[in-house]
Amino acid sequence: MDANTQNNLLLEIQDLTIQYITDAGTVHAVENLNLHLGHGETLGFVGETGAGKTTTALGIMRLIPSPPGVVKSGKIIFEGQNLLEKSEPEMRAIRGGKIAMIFQDPMTSLNPVMTVDKQIAEMIKLHKNVGEAESLKLAGDMLELVGIRRERMHDYPHQFSGGMKQRVVIAIALACDPGLLIADEPTTALDVTIQAQVLELMKKLKQQFDASMILITHDLGIVADICDKVAIMYAGRVVEYADKRALYSNPVHPYTIGLFNSVPDLDDDKEALNVIPGLMPDPMDLPAGCTFHPRCTCAAEQCSKTKPAMIDVGNGHFAACPIRAKALGAA
Ligand SMILES: Nc1ncnc2c1ncn2[C@@H]1O[C@H](COP(=O)(O)OP(=O)(O)OP(=O)(O)O)[C@@H](O)[C@H]1O
Ligand SMILES: [Mg+2]
Repeated sequence: MDANTQNNLLLEIQDLTIQYITDAGTVHAVENLNLHLGHGETLGFVGETGAGKTTTALGIMRLIPSPPGVVKSGKIIFEGQNLLEKSEPEMRAIRGGKIAMIFQDPMTSLNPVMTVDKQIAEMIKLHKNVGEAESLKLAGDMLELVGIRRERMHDYPHQFSGGMKQRVVIAIALACDPGLLIADEPTTALDVTIQAQVLELMKKLKQQFDASMILITHDLGIVADICDKVAIMYAGRVVEYADKRALYSNPVHPYTIGLFNSVPDLDDDKEALNVIPGLMPDPMDLPAGCTFHPRCTCAAEQCSKTKPAMIDVGNGHFAACPIRAKALGAA
């Protein structure tokens, strides 16, 4: 990491390992994961289902369900302090106050039997030293900011459409001006036109609130639209990390290249998609060495033996593939 990146650092995850211990075996959900995020940046966190994206996000929030979840090792350094060493009361102040999370399904975050103004006001009262009347006024302001008329503030969640409910969730998340917003597939449950509106709103508010954001998604189109940096996750690890432009113009890891090739190209009239052969490995039984090697067209003998480290292939573009890095003259 260069000095500029180091100075601008908001979050740094080092060697994070999280497992779920179940009767059927140990799920290696996150394995020696490394990641960093600068002030004001939006990081796209991309990977197939089961890659460990939500587990990583819950790890940052210290909300891994336990049992069965266990954070085995690593550091999550936020504003210079390791969150894994914080007490539960300290974490309660950080959650919502400094780091807020938006989940895929708005109904998991909203209380169906409480009016939305009260829900936003509760969050405000929890983190700011204001009374009932002031917190309700601020709640109304937040609703207007996300495009919901003040008159609707005494309504219950079921009186809103899906897109509006997700706007309420965004209002709650931003109510205490958090430095970091983690959005876990925030628009997947919405239909496409509403998705675009909600994403546009998040992009605008992120700038207005001067926050950083981790946007978890399967959708490389959304990443292209919104993110500055991208981390590609495969079987519990980040396998490539770069500026969006560098990643899109020059993907390095064979898995990333496979992901891009599987996006339909409108100008290309080939019928079949270039799907990456094989399946993601069983997280209870990960392959030795590089976990992608059984599916990889570039794999050499070393790939089944040695776990690849992240290699800087130039200008802060990292990839966990010594074979490709060597081909590019970086290792
Ligand atoms: N509570 C749990 N108990 C046992 N295994 C779990 C639990 N939560 C997640 N897992 C497993 O951990 C692995 C990572 O799951 P995670 O939800 O983090 O993936 P994800 O990348 O968010 O996937 P998706 O894109 O489907 O949301 C998966 O194999 C999943 O089945
Ligand atoms: Mg998930």
